[in-house]
Amino acid sequence: MMFLMHEWLELVLRWFHVIAAIAWIGSSFYFIALDLSLKQNQSLPPKSYGEAWQVHGGGFYHLVKYLVAPSKLPSELTWFKWEAYATWVSGFALLALIYYAGAELYLIDMIKYDFEKYEAILISIFGIIFGWLVYDIMCRISLKTNVYTLILSIFILITVMSWAYSELFSYRGAFMQIGTVLGTIMVANVLMVIIPGQKKVVASLIKNETPDAKYGMIAKQRSLHNNYLTLPVIFIMVSNHYPIIYATTYSWMVIPIILIIGALIRHFFNIKHTGLKPPYWIIFPVIILLFLSIFISDYGKPQLTKLNQNVHLIKDIPKPILSSAQEIIVSKCSMCHAKEPLWDNMHNPPKQLILETAEDIIVNIENIYSQSVASFAMPPGNVSFLENHERAEIEKLYLTILNLTKNK
Ligand code: HEC
Repeated sequence: MMFLMHEWLELVLRWFHVIAAIAWIGSSFYFIALDLSLKQNQSLPPKSYGEAWQVHGGGFYHLVKYLVAPSKLPSELTWFKWEAYATWVSGFALLALIYYAGAELYLIDMIKYDFEKYEAILISIFGIIFGWLVYDIMCRISLKTNVYTLILSIFILITVMSWAYSELFSYRGAFMQIGTVLGTIMVANVLMVIIPGQKKVVASLIKNETPDAKYGMIAKQRSLHNNYLTLPVIFIMVSNHYPIIYATTYSWMVIPIILIIGALIRHFFNIKHTGLKPPYWIIFPVIILLFLSIFISDYGKPQLTKLNQNVHLIKDIPKPILSSAQEIIVSKCSMCHAKEPLWDNMHNPPKQLILETAEDIIVNIENIYSQSVASFAMPPGNVSFLENHERAEIEKLYLTILNLTKNK
């Protein structure tokens, strides 16, 4: 019963998190496109910057943007902030429920650092706060300097943090940690900078003063960053179904590459929204960078000892290959992947995957291969110390089966 409640809680939280994120990113994409499509027009009211006409859901909309604020404040104003806050709160709750409560499976990799659970959690929280503070300071300083210096500094900050966390945490934990750092920067931009600035503008309007244009400039800088960070953050959040991408030696390098790819794709749409010819050349660097990521995943996968070149000659799975792989899997995986797992507080086999008999192993060999041979995803945090030569034994069985099925 407890297990069932835990699963429900996790799914409901995830459901909420995804919906809040859709509402947030959706409205943010909408406003970016609206902003870029504004056209100037002589007949617009004073202090207005541009207008746009849109058609949606059976009606026509006429939108006018006021650059600092309209001369007279409207009696009702819709704010966009709860979407961002709800995304962060639900996201952090998920992080705590999955990655902190299960730190020994999802954050800690004993071979890298044998942290106590609370230590790993503190290091994660420290990184989230550190990332925001350093980013915020960089932005404040850079208001007076070059925008490219700022972008480069942020890029280096994230790259160094990706590397550092992949040294400290399990691969999966490190990936999610950086996703959280980036997501937190985005939400903190809304909470700590954009909304307070907007409030100051409204307050001075109420007092009949002219608001300081600097708040608009600062908000613009932060929402531009949020715009470019959106796609990479979503990539990281959904990547945990793909161990081959997040769990190889150099998977930390995938994050900076995705930062560039995501920014390029956003750039394409930003230009398209202005009505200019979109920069189709972007497809070339994107493809090159994707291939680079694929190469990085392949290069960083577990290095296996030399394989038996003659496997393809064997007509049926030879006994020694099967029994050797089976022995390894039973001793290193079955404490969790069993009908009755022996692992503490685990009441069902994870993902209902049982690996006890030779049949279980043969049926699931592809999945086993991608989780424990082509990547370091299993055992989680290498809790049962699966050695590379043991991964090689599992690969031998995989290749044998692959060949047998091909020859059929
Ligand atoms: C400490 C417990 C534990 C050990 C040991 C362990 N696993 Fe897992 N395994 C898990 C958990 C937890 C998940 C679910 C991960 C998730 O939620 O994505 C999982 C998921 C999997 C999956 C993905 C199932 C699916 O269909 O998505 C495979 C395959 C797998 N493990 C194989 C292995 C292999 C092979 C070994 C041994 C080399 C192993 N596991 C050792 C806990 C364990």
